Amino acid sequence: MAYGAAFHRSLRALADPGPPFTYSEENRARFDQIVTRYPPDRRRSAVLPALYLVQDQQGSITGNAMQYVAELVGITAADVEDVTSYYTMFYTKPVGRFVLSVCRTLSCALNGAEQVTGAICETLGISPGETDPTGTFTLVEVECLGACDRAPVVMVNDGWQECLKPGDVGRLLEDLRGKGEAALTGCHHVVEARQK
Ligand code: FES
Repeated sequence: MAYGAAFHRSLRALADPGPPFTYSEENRARFDQIVTRYPPDRRRSAVLPALYLVQDQQGSITGNAMQYVAELVGITAADVEDVTSYYTMFYTKPVGRFVLSVCRTLSCALNGAEQVTGAICETLGISPGETDPTGTFTLVEVECLGACDRAPVVMVNDGWQECLKPGDVGRLLEDLRGKGEAALTGCHHVVEARQK
């Protein structure tokens, strides 16, 4: 029995291709430096920092950018898409200036994460996965952020807000608009390590 080529051919389409993508000169230099950390036959291990550079450069990771990264690190574009879709810190669509990632795992769930998410939704008029009309805030729900003793925890871009109560949400959003990430409490593991 002969198996036709169609059996093996993937009909999978990559994410929205977006415009053609290449790193800026600066990011290409950063990538070339990063890749030296890995053995030559493990170049594929640089896929995460390679994707962060894409995201820093254009805000989200398009299909053309996945193809570009795939060629740089020597894997398929589908492999890159698998990595991109697995990790919640990578975005395949444009996001707001602040990405609010509310932890919904056990400690945070037991300490009111759902109510925090609800307060954000109500204040901004959006649902999880959406960006507010001003393009300032995107709300996502994520799994454990590793600071369970300060639940509920919200990661805001690369910053942290711990022990957030639903009643604090309005003020936090206003402070973020006014002060940016300086409004955040910071991850206590980092804050306490600095104080020693
Ligand atoms: S359960 Fe939310 S940080 Fe661990």
